[in-house]
Amino acid sequence: MKTQAGIYIGVMSGTSLDGIDVAVVQLGQELKLIGAKCYPIPNETKTAILGLTQPGDNEIERLGKLDIELARLFAAAINHTLHDLNLNRSDILAIGSHGQTIRHRPKTGFSLQAGDPNLIAAQTNIKVIADFRRKDLAYGGEGAPLVPAFHADQFKSSHTSRVILNIGGMSNITVLPTQGEVRGYDTGPGNVLLDAWCYRHRSLPYDQAGAWAASGIYNASLLEKLMSLPFFHETPPKSTGREQFNIEWLEHMLNQSADYQLSPADIQATLLELTARSISDAIISEKHNAPEIYICGGGAHNTALIQRLKQLLEPSSIATTESLGMHPDWVEAAAFAWLAYRALNGLSGNLPSVTGASKETILGGIYQAG
Ligand SMILES: Nc1ncnc2c1ncn2[C@@H]1O[C@H](COP(=O)(O)OP(=O)(O)OP(=O)(O)O)[C@@H](O)[C@H]1O
Ligand SMILES: [Mg+2]
Repeated sequence: MKTQAGIYIGVMSGTSLDGIDVAVVQLGQELKLIGAKCYPIPNETKTAILGLTQPGDNEIERLGKLDIELARLFAAAINHTLHDLNLNRSDILAIGSHGQTIRHRPKTGFSLQAGDPNLIAAQTNIKVIADFRRKDLAYGGEGAPLVPAFHADQFKSSHTSRVILNIGGMSNITVLPTQGEVRGYDTGPGNVLLDAWCYRHRSLPYDQAGAWAASGIYNASLLEKLMSLPFFHETPPKSTGREQFNIEWLEHMLNQSADYQLSPADIQATLLELTARSISDAIISEKHNAPEIYICGGGAHNTALIQRLKQLLEPSSIATTESLGMHPDWVEAAAFAWLAYRALNGLSGNLPSVTGASKETILGGIYQAG
């Protein structure tokens, strides 16, 4: 089939709320990243998002307001990027907009992302593809993770088995064997608990290079308690979000025993260990002989976490996706540009072996410009 090769834009705002990533990508034959940038999310918008990630009052009104606010931010980020890169809107075939996840309840069959695609189309005058997760859910899948199909398309090798590890707010792995089915699922927290604890005790959005965690000592008993959460022991397909991993859950666990009244640094060290172990346990359970591991997402900058993963996953080699030609900060946004390309060209975007959906299907709705 002849596909529409050209320039697509991916917009991603993940669970960490660290910013809105915009990636401009040439697609059709060889992928080429033309440019990318991360735009800030105003504090009031972050508060509004966090307020909606768990049940509360007046949700519909608050969601309606946020849907518009986010769409405006996404459109402004796209328009700025086009200006910076000296591109015309007529150069862009489509925008793939993930939206901001507000609630993800795969077991009840729904996942909700905010950021009205109609308004993005109106304010950019570019066709938008959005609402990627719900078609997969409609076929009985988790609707997540969606990036493994992109990882497989870009990073698979016929010589060595590889694992692509995305450490965003949550962590997810994509297992790429040399032959056979691609697997992938969320392993649990990525940066989300580390960020939350750091903000609580140091008023900083994240633990730079994991240095604060490295200054503490992890507590084995608390680690065991946290690791007893059923999610870690469920078999895939599985996906998670802030509904499960949030500071209220952490505090609830800390209140379970006087033994957990540790120094904030020791708790941060325990959270780093929880993140590292839940990831390494999942990779080891896949039983591929020393796969090459490539990391993407903001967690790639957490030196202490990467060091610990290297120890736990020896003798596998660990590098970032930069070694495969894609900077770790832009893989997720590029994936949504690719998913827009797939949808626009009538190609499937999900992998049933990952999400558990009953079939491959085209993901996303198309919102025309003009
Ligand atoms: N220098 C750094 N040191 C430690 N952590 C960092 C550093 N830079 C970024 N991070 C972490 O990366 C996070 C952002 O990662 P990313 O953008 O991949 O997450 P996300 O937006 O939640 O994406 P996803 O959709 O995959 O969940 C930050 O919140 C922070 O925790
Ligand atoms: Mg992000």
